[in-house]
Amino acid sequence: MASVTSLTASVHQRLADALSAALPEAGSADPLLRRSDRADFQANGILALAKKAKANPRELATQVVARVESGDVIKDIEVSGPGFLNITITDRAITENLAERYADGERLGVPLAEHPGTTVIDYAQPNVAKEMHVGHLRSAVIGDAVVQILEFTGENVVRRHHIGDWGTQFGMLIQYLDEHPHELDHKDAQVSGEEAMSNLDRLYKTARKLFDSDEEFKTRARRRVVDLQAGDPATLASWQKFVDESKIYFFSVFEKLDMEIQDPDIVGESGYNDMLDETCRLLEESGVAVRSEGALCVFFDDVKGPDGNPVPLIVKKSDGGYGYAATDLSAIRDRVFNLKANSLIYVVDARQSLHFKMVFETARRAGWLSDDVKAHQLAFGTVLGKDGKPFKTREGETIRLVDLLDEAIDRATNVVREKAEKVGLSEQEIEENGRFVGIGAVKYADLSTSAVRDYKFDLDQMVSLNGDTSVYLQYAYARIKSILRKAGEARPAAHPELELAPAERELGLHLDRFGETLAEVAAGHEPHKLAAYLYQLASLLTTFYDKCQVLSDDNPTEVVENRLFLVDLTARTLQQGMALLGIRTPERL
Ligand code: ARG
Repeated sequence: MASVTSLTASVHQRLADALSAALPEAGSADPLLRRSDRADFQANGILALAKKAKANPRELATQVVARVESGDVIKDIEVSGPGFLNITITDRAITENLAERYADGERLGVPLAEHPGTTVIDYAQPNVAKEMHVGHLRSAVIGDAVVQILEFTGENVVRRHHIGDWGTQFGMLIQYLDEHPHELDHKDAQVSGEEAMSNLDRLYKTARKLFDSDEEFKTRARRRVVDLQAGDPATLASWQKFVDESKIYFFSVFEKLDMEIQDPDIVGESGYNDMLDETCRLLEESGVAVRSEGALCVFFDDVKGPDGNPVPLIVKKSDGGYGYAATDLSAIRDRVFNLKANSLIYVVDARQSLHFKMVFETARRAGWLSDDVKAHQLAFGTVLGKDGKPFKTREGETIRLVDLLDEAIDRATNVVREKAEKVGLSEQEIEENGRFVGIGAVKYADLSTSAVRDYKFDLDQMVSLNGDTSVYLQYAYARIKSILRKAGEARPAAHPELELAPAERELGLHLDRFGETLAEVAAGHEPHKLAAYLYQLASLLTTFYDKCQVLSDDNPTEVVENRLFLVDLTARTLQQGMALLGIRTPERL
């Protein structure tokens, strides 16, 4: 594993050195290097530095140019405008840099973080005995991408699936199951996720009906909640049945989503039961929480209701019951003190932002969070239907996630099938690719816009071959693979002595930025920037094909080899980037 210094970093270093030689009082000043249309890079930092040093910017720029080490990496550097620098890189440096990346296996020269920390990420948190819907899709897809990206940068990542497995509704369910003991029995040992969910759904609906119509059942159900909270073994055993049945369903959906979720990472709300008392005690003793109308509350200056009165975070209700907040506060203690996290990320719907704002502030006042241990809600927006309204069925019900995924797979399979004959795909490959394309389309649509924005769930657009879609990227990858197969004897090989065409240079300079892009994406938890990078990579590849033939008899062998090398590195970068987003890249499409 050898990390590669990017061309941006090399140029940056050379400029910074020249700058501090020309203007020693500036210290280690930032030359502000950017990619540019006029040259390969432009440095804009000299203007401000000259102003500060009361120097003439063009003169300072000229001095920097005189001192800059050029030749191996920098081919050309010139002053432009009021004191900008335009910098052109040598073709040799581009090819040599890419060759180092090519030699570095799947890391592609991307460095590992020097001081990795521990991040606990809370994502993919469906609720027991309930259907999964599009909100759960977003948390799972965004969370999984952030996990992969952080791990790739070397971060130690702990996954937590904070499933909703606790609460008063379980009293009703458990009581009903006890009175109808065979409702969750299975005919076969192998239970499908669909079957598990339909069992739970049926049971939930009938239990609910009974609860609403039969006062005596209601009383029995309420008593059951108390038993559950008291840890009565028989009650807990029934509760466990609901959790287990739900997990069968969750795992089937995650598998459909092509996502690996591990059982030990599922630590639901119930997992923090033993900590709740202590959490409340600590908050009350430190004065962070106070008693108000019998409840244990935390108040905030800036959180007020419509009537202008403060809205507290209720940690313990007046009847002694604990809610969502007590659980989340206990989970913070667990994550910080037991799991030793220095960063907590919550991939949760933006509609829960107020809850997290209050929970994080409470934890800060209690000293559980600090400048060294930070919590951040990676909030996501709502999934909208084509009409721009929150996504619902015609009857106004929430759409089942599995139905959406199945439809995406169906559509994608049709798209794949249209080209299948030409590519020579078997029926089995068509179906596998259909799944990869369909699920990829759904994930990419979610990941290619900034998480906090709402987005429209539009399958027609998602599986379109043109535009910013995963299928477009998957085709770009498969096309390269097809060229590599057709290359016969010719093998990819870097030839640094060759002069590069403009389209090759553009592609090469973009490939060089993969590591920097990932560092930025990881620091800001912004997978959409990785999606944008990959889309641009595929677009530059398209331009490259337009301008440069790869397998042409007119090309000297070295040119063929060097172009094969360029497209192969592009394919590997696409594949790695897509994998970090949780999206597969079929070899033939
Ligand atoms: N189960 C919750 C829901 O479906 C999401 C849980 C979010 N995580 C947390 N630590 N509160 O809305």
